[in-house]
Amino acid sequence: MTTTPLLDQAHPAVKGGLLLEVTNISRQTDSIVSITFADLAGGLLPAYVPGSHLVVQYGAGVNAYSLTGSGSTPFEYIISVLQVEDGAGGSQAMHRLSVGDLVQVSRPRSAFAPVANATHQLLVAAGIGITPVLSHARSAVEWGTATDLIYVHRPGAGAHVEEARELLGDGLTECSDRASFQKVLAESLTHQPLGTHLYVCGPAAFMDDVLDQAREHGWPAARLHSEAFGAAELDDGEPFAVNLTRSGTRLEVPAGVSLLEALENAGKSIPNMCRKGICGECSLSVLRGTPQHRDLYLTDQEKAENTTMMCCVSRSLDEELELDL
Ligand code: FES
Repeated sequence: MTTTPLLDQAHPAVKGGLLLEVTNISRQTDSIVSITFADLAGGLLPAYVPGSHLVVQYGAGVNAYSLTGSGSTPFEYIISVLQVEDGAGGSQAMHRLSVGDLVQVSRPRSAFAPVANATHQLLVAAGIGITPVLSHARSAVEWGTATDLIYVHRPGAGAHVEEARELLGDGLTECSDRASFQKVLAESLTHQPLGTHLYVCGPAAFMDDVLDQAREHGWPAARLHSEAFGAAELDDGEPFAVNLTRSGTRLEVPAGVSLLEALENAGKSIPNMCRKGICGECSLSVLRGTPQHRDLYLTDQEKAENTTMMCCVSRSLDEELELDL
């Protein structure tokens, strides 16, 4: 494997990563482009597990994008990016890239990996949430895992539809309105074989709704998996409180205010960099309570352990958290 080291001005979130060249750009829809990155010498890139993402640097900023490939022996990394007019600038920068441009990226990171021994999986995606789900679908076909995909998109505005159709055939169900989606989802949640794992990616409210319905149908938590996007798409969340054990302080965190902001407002100095749940700089130790993990840094296993949280984006599922601070 040949990989070119990063330049000196690499953002901390891509440290230890790769300098890659843009080798192809293709338009998926009016607002979504697929961008292909490859090693400058054409070498093999680090492999990744399905559902992984890359952190891509643009100027002084970084953002995370899901990889759409299966991850085994990759000679290229492909991301698909929705242009967001009022975002932090990452998607606009990605849409300005041209073939031949160089980009600094992290190594692939996994936070939405498939369960290795699952024999059947139900994938549910909305809009640009198709990207990590497509990665799961490709891998499932390679490994012979039975897979169904419900893909919700606006009429004529779905990305990667043809690829999904080729991969899954009748296993793909497209929905373009809420009523048909709710009907298909209810049927799928009722009739999946025992042991099926559910993977969902899309806007936060969409994922919450799908996961709530799965729980109502009796799906155990261990079979439910979701992929959150960056902070720009996160909702305000519920208010909660934190007890800081070392300083003996109690703080209220209102809806719409991040834990990081609440700590800073109280005079605490917390190391941070991206403020988007990507870089891992703002990690805090949790002593009691269950965080609502909304970052892209911790792995599924680390999130399940609930001993660490990224305070820039993550909140609390309990009314109160106790932090080692
Ligand atoms: S500041 Fe980067 S993960 Fe929180």
